[in-house]
Amino acid sequence: MSTITVTGAGYVGLVTGACFADLGNTVTCLDIDEARIAGLNRGILPIYEPGLKELVDRNRESGRLRFTTDYQDACRGTEFVFIAVNTPSGQEGEADMGQVRSAVESLARVVSGRVIVVNKSTMPIGTGDWVASILERLGPPDLQFAVVSNPEFLREGAAMIKYASNAFLATKISFINEIASICEKLGGDVKTVARGMGLDKRIGTAFLDAGLGYGGSCFPKDVKALAHMAAVNGCHPQLLRAVMEINRDARRSVMWKLRQRLGSLEDRLIGILGLSFKPNTDDLRESPALEIIHLLRAEHARLQVYDPVAMDKARRIIKGVEFCEDAYAAAAGAEALVLVTDWNEFKQLDMARLKAAMAYPLFIDGRNIHDPEQLRRVGFEYYGVGRGQSPEAGNGRVTRPTQVSATV
Ligand code: UGA
Repeated sequence: MSTITVTGAGYVGLVTGACFADLGNTVTCLDIDEARIAGLNRGILPIYEPGLKELVDRNRESGRLRFTTDYQDACRGTEFVFIAVNTPSGQEGEADMGQVRSAVESLARVVSGRVIVVNKSTMPIGTGDWVASILERLGPPDLQFAVVSNPEFLREGAAMIKYASNAFLATKISFINEIASICEKLGGDVKTVARGMGLDKRIGTAFLDAGLGYGGSCFPKDVKALAHMAAVNGCHPQLLRAVMEINRDARRSVMWKLRQRLGSLEDRLIGILGLSFKPNTDDLRESPALEIIHLLRAEHARLQVYDPVAMDKARRIIKGVEFCEDAYAAAAGAEALVLVTDWNEFKQLDMARLKAAMAYPLFIDGRNIHDPEQLRRVGFEYYGVGRGQSPEAGNGRVTRPTQVSATV
């Protein structure tokens, strides 16, 4: 068993640290955010991840996992240091390495003896040599070290692979979203198309769910960073650019659908189901919900929003919306509901009750989790993504609630 330090107690670092501790290693998680570390020392997790709290509690109590903001304390006698800090997108789409630089510089000043530094965050080509040069420059003269790359779940020692894998998966998503918009206009069902495609083993079913596009801290940033690396090295990354454009359009299609049916969105009451970028996380980074909410607010719509776990985080960054205690409250009095995140909870809603709560039963299923026919039977005017029907403006627009009560 080893002594391990993990710098960055976020989505990657905290999970990595807790799992290593659970395997029997002695782990110190280090973060410069004092409030975050104080919380962790009291058992309060800064992120939601299924099962993580139990894992952290168990290992903290057994003494195998501890948290600190002090580099000196965290690195004393350590054998492995994992760098798991953020590498957000910079102005031009490049990976911003500021946090990695400051973590490695702080590390170099306190490590001694023999240490292996592990690049865990997704970092551009050449980072291994760059990290080594910082350690050589700032570390003690007798420091013996190696720098290795261990991007999550992917092959060690060849970090290009990580960017290419993520960009390929993002391409699969944008591909199926393009097929979805064709289906929508031509009357096909993208789910049937994706199922059929997936039966071909060379293609596979994974990452062929059409919807509002990819979000999160990985795909958007990695596709952008790869396109940036390509462009500054003399390539013309047309496919990657198209992938990003289709992803942007996927979110915007919600606006078009709502406008087709409601006309002006000014002062219209709209419910939003789901805020996190995908289910089972409270991560809001690059979440389609944030963009859709921004666009709706720019058109002066009134919004009622709900998410099963991301409400606390959302309250800190989303302003001017009403946060509701459940999906039914988000639907109350609304003229449209937009399902943004495919939480299981939203698959199991009492749809008749949901419909009864609304002023008009327009349902935009941004993740295709419901059966169109079933929802239409309940009385919803249902639109999925690429499910054969697109909203027509001419088909009797939804009138505002005062008039709706007389006509619906
Ligand atoms: C992704 C990769 O899947 C991991 O293999 C990788 O290790 C990780 O990035 C990383 O780079 O660290 P993650 O960002 O957590 O993992 O989330 P995914 O489950 O891949 O979903 C990404 C986004 O794509 C979500 O917004 C999801 O809703 C969307 N998506 C996924 C679709 O729109 N359609 C699909 O068919 C699949």
